[in-house]
Amino acid sequence: MRIDIVSIFPEYFAPLDVSLLGKARRRGVVDVRVHDLRDWTHDRHRTVDDTPYGGGPGMVMKPEPWGEALDAIVPPGTPAVPRLVVPTPSGRPFTQAQAVAFAAEPWLVFACGRYEGIDSRVVEEARQRMPVDEVGIGDYVLAGGEVAVLVIVEAVSRLLPGVLGNADSVTDDSFAPGAMETLVEGPVYTKPPVWRDRAVPEVLLSGDHGAIARWRRDQALRRTVVHRPELAAKIDPDTLDADDRRV
Ligand code: ADE
Repeated sequence: MRIDIVSIFPEYFAPLDVSLLGKARRRGVVDVRVHDLRDWTHDRHRTVDDTPYGGGPGMVMKPEPWGEALDAIVPPGTPAVPRLVVPTPSGRPFTQAQAVAFAAEPWLVFACGRYEGIDSRVVEEARQRMPVDEVGIGDYVLAGGEVAVLVIVEAVSRLLPGVLGNADSVTDDSFAPGAMETLVEGPVYTKPPVWRDRAVPEVLLSGDHGAIARWRRDQALRRTVVHRPELAAKIDPDTLDADDRRV
């Protein structure tokens, strides 16, 4: 997969060099290219923002550097076209299902807005030649799109074949399409079996895989009801068996 990121703070993306994603980049599984939006300005101050039409506080990102950046990264008329992802608190909520869909794309371009956002004509024009998704990562406002892009890139890249050590672990994730779609994961334990007088639940040491799966599902259901009642309300009652209903 190829990932291009355009930002006025390229240094925000240093974390993409570490951990599993860093390793995947070095192995060539993911090709991440970070670009400085100011490379597409032409004035002495490398200006990327201006006052908003209609008045009001803050500044808006000018369309010209964005237009030139997108033209340089996605030359008009070339057959391969990426998905453009624009993080914004007013976008559609980013979910695990969206991460799975992005992970199936060969090429993603991220446009990080700052200040009050990017002049709307940029997305409007980009839509003429590539699919565009405006995505929000939560109901709070960040100072810019950079951290949201880090979140999205991490959620997407760990789903790519060859990035995580254990491919199975993604199917057990909270929200993973399938059995976990409307559930959060329950608690996990490792050695030692007793720590500060606290024993690991006995069933996990039993070797009874059926009982362990049952216990994990019960725990996931319980946690979902307590921590995420709005998610629990979405569970289709027809997907619950008699044991689930007891939980
Ligand atoms: N930019 C600022 N806040 C954001 C949010 N919550 N999600 C995505 N992008 C953002």
